[in-house]
Parts: sequence; C-alpha cells; structure tokens
Amino acid sequence: MPANPSVPGGSPDPAGPTLLLTGIGELTTHDPAHGPLPLRDAALLLEDGRVAWTGPARQAPAADTAYDVGGRAVIPGFVDSHSHLVFAGDRAEEFAARMTGTPYSAGGIRTTVAATRAATDEQLAANLARLVGEMRRQGTTTVEVKSGYGLTVRDEARSLALARQVTPETTFLGAHVVPEGSTAEEYVELVTGPMLDACAPHARWIDVFCDRGAFDADQARTVLAAGAARGLRGRLHANQLGPGPGVRLACELGLAAVDHCTYLSAADVDALAGSGTMATLLPGVEFSTRSPYPDARRLLDAGVRVALATDCNPGSCYTSSMPLCIALAVREMRMSPAEALAAATLGGAAALDRDDVGHLRPGARADLAVLEAPSYLHLAYRPGVPLVSETFVRGRPAG
Ligand code: NIG
Ligand code: FE
Repeated sequence: MPANPSVPGGSPDPAGPTLLLTGIGELTTHDPAHGPLPLRDAALLLEDGRVAWTGPARQAPAADTAYDVGGRAVIPGFVDSHSHLVFAGDRAEEFAARMTGTPYSAGGIRTTVAATRAATDEQLAANLARLVGEMRRQGTTTVEVKSGYGLTVRDEARSLALARQVTPETTFLGAHVVPEGSTAEEYVELVTGPMLDACAPHARWIDVFCDRGAFDADQARTVLAAGAARGLRGRLHANQLGPGPGVRLACELGLAAVDHCTYLSAADVDALAGSGTMATLLPGVEFSTRSPYPDARRLLDAGVRVALATDCNPGSCYTSSMPLCIALAVREMRMSPAEALAAATLGGAAALDRDDVGHLRPGARADLAVLEAPSYLHLAYRPGVPLVSETFVRGRPAG
C-alpha cells in the first residue's frame, strides 16, 4: 500500500514530479492491456506530464502527491480535431432564420469574413482564448484550429499566427469559399501562391471545403498538392451539403481525415473502409442546421474508422462542447456510448495523426477529464449537464 500525502479537496498542486490520482470510480484508458472495459476502483500515476502507470488503486505505487477524486470517473481528454475558432462576430440572426425555414448555405461564411477582416488582432485573440477556455472546461485537451475567415494573404496569415499561439494543430483553410471580387480561378492561384507562402510557416495542415457552393474536386486537388509540396498534410471538408467526389478524393490521396461525410454513396463507404482516412462526423452541424445526420452505424458496421469533433464555428455549429457531440452521436447516430467516447478521444487523435493523446496508456500525455459522474455513460445519459469537473493538461489542472 502506498503512503502518499493526500490533497484534501480542490485540485492538486503537485509537490514533485509524480502525482497519483486515486479513488477513481471508473477509469477509461483505451489500454488494450486492461481489456475492453473501463477499470473500477482505479488509480493513475502521472510523472512529468505523462502517464506512468494505471491499475487497481490497491496496487498503486507511491507518489510525491496523491489526489483522491472521490469515486468520480476519469477519461482521456477529448481531442477535437475540427474547429474554426479564429473569427469575429456571430450569426445568431442567421441561425434564427434557419430555425424558421431558411436553409444553410456556404454563402453565410462571407458575413463572418467581413467581421473578421475588420477585427484587430487583439479582438481575434480574445475571442479565440474565450472559446479555447470553454473547450478546456468541457474536457477538451487537444484542439485543431483552422483559418478560413480571412481569405486575403494578410488575414489568413494572421489567423494562423494567432491559432499557433494556442495549438500546434493549425490548418490553412484559405480555400473555404471564393471571396467577393475574385473568380474561382484567380482565387485558387492566390491560395496556392502568395497566400500559401505566407501561411505555410504557421500551419501543420491544409484543408479545402470541397462541396456545392465552394470548391470542386479539381480545385481541391490543386490546393492540396500545392500544400503537400510545402510540407502541409491534407484534410478535407466534404459531402456536407450534398453527394460529391470529396470523400473519394480524400481516400485516394490518403488524407488523414475527411470531415462531415453526411451524404455518402456505397462507393464512398467502400473507399473509406479500404483506406486509412478517418471519417470525422460533426453531429453538432446537423443539429444546428436541421439536416439529416450522417449514418454512423453504416460506417462503423462497414469497418470505417470514425472520429467525432465539434466543428465549432459561428455559422453551421456554434458549440464548443464535445460532451454534446457525444450525446448527439449516441442519440441521433446510433453509436454506442463506448464508440462515441472512443471517437471523441482516440478517433480525434488518429484524425490528427497523433498517438500521444486520446488515451491514457503509459507514456501518453497526461491529458484527462474528471467527470462529476460515476461513469462515462453519463456523458450521453445526462445531455446538457456540465459533467466535466476538472481537466488536466500535461498533468496539470487546466480548466
Ligand atoms: O465546417 N463547411 C464549411 N465550413 C464550416 C462552416 C462555416 C460557416 O458557416 O461559417 C463548416 O461547417
Ligand atoms: Fe468545418
């Protein structure tokens, strides 16, 4: 039995390099060594911001500090692999009009582009920090952030420079829509030329909105190839607004992820199943645009690897909540609670080509959420309830 000094109440301030979380009623690690079910009455040892050990509390090693979480459930922090957090203003009126019958279209993006261009760096940074704070308090420990509301060389580059301050998972989405005053041909030249030159140093990924009202497959191919030549890995927005070639293009190019996947043909499902490309489902979008949900069951049953993300943005889905996405995935897309939790953690990590986050195996980054609940099942069972009581990033309390 360990003889640890314990921290009564509140979050721990580790006194040394090791911290033992103990009294964990249910611990989800995604460690195959523990089998498919969460551990009960468990403990987790953190050392220098990494997971050092997990197992039954009675077998826990000694640590510099111990923190008894009082029977609450612990899960890996959420990996939100798709968001658009660099913007100004909101589109609440557009949302209200949609709820009384106006359909969603890509054209609304231009409203946010105008507001974003008019904002100062400080205003954009403050809005970004506010949204990342919301995410942290809801258990998200890794977030991908896209540009895409600037659509000029200056505004795309500053969007990515700001995003880079909050996450290494930054995505250049100059090819979001064609801005007013340009033809598609002119704009693709700008995106693949001077805009890419200015943005590539700040980005890890490149993305294209390949859908009706945005870019076609040839344009997407051109933009992704230009990005790849600058070392940016590709991802795509595809098949959100209707059927199209985007999903198959993503699979053909071996992209890390293709996101939305709302309208899929049998050939799209086969292509996904035979590829290493993750299908990222964004059920908050269907909720907020009153659209049909993607058929997650069909994808999972076909062997497609699925991630869940928020797509947090002021137009199609203004939620920062991964717990809401889990609840929607379970209730509306017939994913099991275990599948939804895995898609929101391990799935998001795979969509970002990361193996250090999304799980709590020894060596993982100590990113986790403590739930005000005895089981992760409550994430779907108690929708809308703020169940994340503490978030740890690299072993430190962070929200
Ligand atoms: O992922 N689909 C394209 N882009 C965003 C929406 C952007 C907006 O409406 O402002 C999305 O849904
Ligand atoms: Fe998006």
